[in-house]
Amino acid sequence: MKDRFGREITYLRLSVTELCNLRCRYCMPAEGICKKRHEDMLTEEEMLTAVRAAASLGICKLRITGGEPLVKKNILSICRNAAGIPGIEELCITTNGILLPELAMPLREAGVDRINMSLDTLDPQKYSHITRIGSLKDALLGLQAALDAGFKRVKMNTVLIGGFNDDEIQNLAELTLRYPVDVRFIEYMPMPGALEFGPDAYIPCDMVLKCLPRLEPVADESRVARCYRLPGALGNVGLISAVTNDFCAECNRIRLTADGKLKPCLHSGQEIPIKGLSQEEMTEQIKAAILAKPRCHTLLSAGAHSHAGRAMYTIGG
Ligand code: 5AD
Ligand code: SF4
Repeated sequence: MKDRFGREITYLRLSVTELCNLRCRYCMPAEGICKKRHEDMLTEEEMLTAVRAAASLGICKLRITGGEPLVKKNILSICRNAAGIPGIEELCITTNGILLPELAMPLREAGVDRINMSLDTLDPQKYSHITRIGSLKDALLGLQAALDAGFKRVKMNTVLIGGFNDDEIQNLAELTLRYPVDVRFIEYMPMPGALEFGPDAYIPCDMVLKCLPRLEPVADESRVARCYRLPGALGNVGLISAVTNDFCAECNRIRLTADGKLKPCLHSGQEIPIKGLSQEEMTEQIKAAILAKPRCHTLLSAGAHSHAGRAMYTIGG
């Protein structure tokens, strides 16, 4: 279905939980998660009904996010059932990778086509710092498990933070020389509840091009990333300019939070509830969400924070 600005909306991002086994500083406040009441969250059946409703309106790509989707006990069942819904052509998942050693193969078997894994640094101390409680060793075992499990594509997401990992751009990008992985640098967005970095943290993705003059532009079907390749590499280097160069004109997505709110735009506070509704009623609400998509969101910067109204772990990264 098309929105008011002629954009064909084909992509649903479904957050299945707000819980997470990490506490990344750009995503969560230090005090961690305020657990909502179980009865306020979508059940598996409601999630699947929402995906069916979305598919009936032309959604063909589904991404499962969180929080951390792999801490959800019924994640394999959600994936298996979602993959089987007529109209859903591609099922992707975004994870921090910590639980991939056990779950990569079962996820692939459940019908997950692609994996995006978050990894912001290759330095063990910095990894423990940025995630507050994580261990780099676990993340690297997860990345290896994703590569071994035969996904159609494995992407690594790195949030670029000035003064934290801008000195690692080359090392991170050079992972594409050794592994068939796409490394994507994402500009740090000023999201509610996770604003502990100062103005120096905001560095444009174009810094990656300055650091790595050998990068050559390549064509890619990605709508949000500008793609490049190092000579001889096995994967692409992608730049996601979430702050300096927003991609609103190309936006093809809507979001559904784990507590059952449709978000027409990541950076807007508008939410449309679907908890407890029938498939027909959900279809009407999804139509309303598509028609409520703004043309674009306000510009973000160190001094102009997102109007998302909630922290990233409660929306879906
Ligand atoms: N800025 C940019 N990306 C973010 N993510 C979470 N919080 C932010 C933020 N403030 C994204 C990262 C991470 C995914 C789970 O969500 O890409 O890998
Ligand atoms: Fe968890 Fe992902 Fe947020 Fe990190 S960015 S705290 S892994 S949800």
